[in-house]
Amino acid sequence: MSFEPRTREQVESTIAGVVESARIEPRMDYCLAAVLPDGGELVAFARISIDLGHPLQNSAQIGFALRSDRWRQGLGAEVVRLLLRLGFEQLGIYRIWGARSPLNEASGRVMSKLGMVEEGVIRGHLKLADGWRDSVIHSVLAPEWKAAAG
Ligand SMILES: CC(C)(COP(=O)(O)OP(=O)(O)OC[C@H]1O[C@@H](n2cnc3c(N)ncnc32)[C@H](O)[C@@H]1OP(=O)(O)O)[C@@H](O)C(=O)NCCC(=O)NCCS
Repeated sequence: MSFEPRTREQVESTIAGVVESARIEPRMDYCLAAVLPDGGELVAFARISIDLGHPLQNSAQIGFALRSDRWRQGLGAEVVRLLLRLGFEQLGIYRIWGARSPLNEASGRVMSKLGMVEEGVIRGHLKLADGWRDSVIHSVLAPEWKAAAG
């Protein structure tokens, strides 16, 4: 992950910011709780943020994290699939991308599985507690998503 473990107070403040951001129009940020369909157990955090870029761009970045006791049960792929559906089918995004640590094989596997191709590496992308980190970028385009969905 790109951040250190947070205190309960930091998490409360983050959630308050997330709730606030959901009210801003037009909505640019969707920070979502992923729950199981039967019973609503919280299993993951999922986010899609529309890029504030050049007016000719129409892209959004995704992020996702599962509870560690739920890893390797297919839920990560399910969460990314839901984020892509939200982005392409409801928000009308053209390009959806994600950035991962070069060491994060699980994230790379999940994004590749959903058709997010590896574009390349952004060198020195993020400054973390232990220094600058490169990011591997994955992306999928709306026509590719549509073709894969049939
Ligand atoms: C990345 C993460 C969401 C994966 O979720 P998951 O539910 O374990 O993934 P899935 O069970 O859906 O697995 C999807 C594929 O990834 C593979 N995979 C999952 N974890 C893996 C690991 N640690 N190493 C290698 N492959 C892995 C699975 O085998 C599966 O591949 P397959 O379909 O070819 O068999 C989860 O590990 C996580 O929350 N990590 C911490 C947060 C994080 O890294 N978020 C991404 C930041 S960029």
